[in-house]
Amino acid sequence: MCMENNRPTVLLGVTGSVAAFRTIDLASQLTKGGYRVDVVLTPGALRFVRPLSFEAVTHRCAYTDESPGILEGRAVHIELAERAGVVLVAPATADLIGRYVCGLSPDLLTSLLLATEAPVLLAPAMNARMWNHPAVRANVALLRKRGVRFIGPESGLLSCGSEGPGRLWPVGRLYEILRELLPAQSDRIPPFEQEEKEVAARKPRSISLSRVQDERRGVDEMAEKKKSPKKPAVKKMEKNGKKGVAAKKK
Ligand SMILES: Cc1cc2nc3c(=O)[nH]c(=O)nc-3n(C[C@H](O)[C@H](O)[C@H](O)COP(=O)(O)O)c2cc1C
Repeated sequence: MCMENNRPTVLLGVTGSVAAFRTIDLASQLTKGGYRVDVVLTPGALRFVRPLSFEAVTHRCAYTDESPGILEGRAVHIELAERAGVVLVAPATADLIGRYVCGLSPDLLTSLLLATEAPVLLAPAMNARMWNHPAVRANVALLRKRGVRFIGPESGLLSCGSEGPGRLWPVGRLYEILRELLPAQSDRIPPFEQEEKEVAARKPRSISLSRVQDERRGVDEMAEKKKSPKKPAVKKMEKNGKKGVAAKKK
């Protein structure tokens, strides 16, 4: 994973669903939350949203199949796949799920999905009958077995007018899940402080060398005083006084 100015990278994939516009808000929240956000739009997504909306909130280039094939000297899908700390496709269409499960990569997003080692999360959005279709159910089950995490969909009134499971998971909750998986810099305890805390929890407080030396010196002085009995303070003062006068006369 690549960190830019200590910002962890979230790769947001956007596919062709009416819910695609909601991902703009997620990209904005992530950017404000301290993440570097790379956005990749499928050709299907471009029918609903434009790269410029994402670029405006992430302050970065958004990628499409029309983007240059080389990024930072490497194939764009490999560079994006490797720098990601986590990949979230939101919304994920039935079509994207089908291509991913079959290992097909006709576009930039599916290519990087096959190339990445980062955790992959899919937040589906589709009509409830599409979501419940046996082909989609089987695809989802197989991807889950391979370690892909599905977030949602939520049940409710869908944009097509019907009701049931198919709504994109709320953006605020997607943000929370990403934050748990990949803490932003502000959430992290610096390694040095972390180490200090662990050491403090493990060991009893150690005494410094100088403190040991001071204590040793004190013990020696006490022993010294015990050996030579104290002379009365008045006599000592008189003696000093005489010496002082004698010295002045000289
Ligand atoms: C108006 C409209 C809305 C659509 N909404 C969805 C949707 O919410 N979920 C979905 O899986 N497909 C939806 N589709 C179908 C996809 O856009 C289509 O399968 C497309 O090929 C997806 O491409 P992509 O997965 O590469 O983005 C919709 C199509 C249209 C015309």
